[in-house]
Amino acid sequence: MSKYVLVTGGAGYIGSHTVLALTAKGYTPVIVDDFRNANEVVLNGLSTILGFEPILHRVDICDPSAMRAIFQSYVFHGVIHFAAYKAVGESVQKPLMYYQNNLAGLVNILSLMEEFKVLNFVFSSSCTVYGEPKETKEVHEETPKSLPESPYGYTKWIGEQIISDFFKSAPEFHLMNLRYFNPVGAHPSAKIGEFPIGKPNNLLPFVTQTAIGKQDCLTVFGDDYPTRDGSCVRDYIHVMDLAEAHVQAIQFLEKQENGCLEAVNIGTGTGTTVLEVIRVFEKITNQKLNYRIGPRREGDVIEIYANAVKSNTLLSWKATRTIEDAVRDAWNWELALNQQA
Ligand code: UD1
Repeated sequence: MSKYVLVTGGAGYIGSHTVLALTAKGYTPVIVDDFRNANEVVLNGLSTILGFEPILHRVDICDPSAMRAIFQSYVFHGVIHFAAYKAVGESVQKPLMYYQNNLAGLVNILSLMEEFKVLNFVFSSSCTVYGEPKETKEVHEETPKSLPESPYGYTKWIGEQIISDFFKSAPEFHLMNLRYFNPVGAHPSAKIGEFPIGKPNNLLPFVTQTAIGKQDCLTVFGDDYPTRDGSCVRDYIHVMDLAEAHVQAIQFLEKQENGCLEAVNIGTGTGTTVLEVIRVFEKITNQKLNYRIGPRREGDVIEIYANAVKSNTLLSWKATRTIEDAVRDAWNWELALNQQA
């Protein structure tokens, strides 16, 4: 019998890579995505890699009757909930849109899981829930959370709270918050990858778009921070490693006899500065990147990276790909996109 896993936002960046990772382990992903923030190119790429068309429902996760019909059509083994808005700046401009989609969507999915007794649930959370780390820059799951800087951050923070309150009322559920650090890279086939709509906010898409000529110049947001070269430090995690972490999470949850709620960091455990990312890009692609040093970006965390012990002990998962792998795969994806254009 097929082990159906509902993947909301399955045509998006992390979702599409997770669809591949699930399929590789024998699960049957059922994608729900209304393509407001996804692209047909990625869907075609998925079909090419898989050799068949994945199951897809073009539905808004906030539409209760359409979602109920999907829950009626499959016996879901679990749910991985990606579908959400994720641009920090936009969330400041359109907070209600963020709260509506990210929180109403989550509540809708959890309600249907309760109604249909689908026990296993993985939530796309973020290291943004830690805010700016106080003493040590390496954060573990017990590091106290801080109040977020943006409505986007609040949707992850409140999302975790909703899940926690739900668990108190329904302790038989198996729930996991995966706190992602900075997802980067693409599938090594260059058939799927990140597809930023409009000007990218995140670093690596901006780097590759600058190198290909879609952007004129990368601005490094500050080089006067108290870090080893003055630029901010992040924990960049290859999207295929991140995708595989979701499969490990589902495999962990399905083994549990009792209900559980866990938060797990998904990062490499190593921090890399913005300037180091640029150096890696220049080395891997053997070209100079056009960049300039600009002012700090408001709300930026100075330095944060994962303590990655719990993911290893609880999920038997750890990152296996390097920042070099991620940069090479992101660049090959940019080149492939450019050929299609
Ligand atoms: C951002 C969000 C975070 C969210 C994540 C989703 C903020 C403050 N945080 O994380 O909540 O979960 O995206 O992917 O926006 N940089 C440049 N020039 C650029 C772009 C980025 O120097 O053009 C620097 C940033 O200052 C930062 C690093 O690159 O130091 C990474 O930035 P980004 O990719 O936007 O990720 P985060 O800020 O870590």
